[in-house]
Amino acid sequence: MSDLKNRLAMERRLERRQRRREEYHRGLRPMAIAAWNITKEHNVGSLVRTAHAAAAAEVVLVGERDWNVEAAKTAELYTTVTQLPDIEAFRTHLESRRWNLVAVELDERAVNVFDAEYPERPCFLLGAELAGVPAELLDDAELVVQIPQWGLVPSLNLAIAGSIVLYDYLAKLHGQGSLNRPDGGLVDQNAGEPEGGDDVDHKG
Ligand SMILES: C[S@@+](CC[C@H](N)C(=O)[O-])C[C@H]1O[C@@H](n2cnc3c(N)ncnc32)[C@H](O)[C@@H]1O
Repeated sequence: MSDLKNRLAMERRLERRQRRREEYHRGLRPMAIAAWNITKEHNVGSLVRTAHAAAAAEVVLVGERDWNVEAAKTAELYTTVTQLPDIEAFRTHLESRRWNLVAVELDERAVNVFDAEYPERPCFLLGAELAGVPAELLDDAELVVQIPQWGLVPSLNLAIAGSIVLYDYLAKLHGQGSLNRPDGGLVDQNAGEPEGGDDVDHKG
């Protein structure tokens, strides 16, 4: 291919990417996912990837930690990740964005996820790998939700727990007939290709 053709092809790719990014941003849902003081970086990547897939408006990381983009599989390029240093900053952020706090935790005041009725504009908060969600944030939460387990290991991986609850919320919106674009990205049997594009990493 000539230089000119290469350049034109590149420009078209960039324009397509920009259009898809704008379209994605227009379709963001009023929900967020937050994590308290995560220590394992790949868990942050996994949460960002789920938040991105579900079209959550943002991921909020509370606590001073670096995180690894690897597990996010490019999702971090499109999903807003807000880092906040402490609980006070988190509370201020929740208020300014009008998020309603939903703690995801194994706790005696928690309701079973199957019975959960979520508030509007939920911000789902996951706890740290070892210490869980701090007591003061459990106190702040409008709802505490837990995922039943039948195994002998006492808890789920936090990114998995976050993903289950986020999609439970979407499933309930769908059940009420209020989820827009319910079939986003599903493989179309006629077309045979998932939605996505040349800048999206489908693997991993
Ligand atoms: C590995 S767990 C924390 C460990 C837990 N504190 C313990 O005593 O073993 C990390 C986080 O994942 C979430 N989590 C894990 N399993 C859960 C479940 N069954 N229901 C709700 N949240 C869960 C919570 O947010 C929790 O703080």
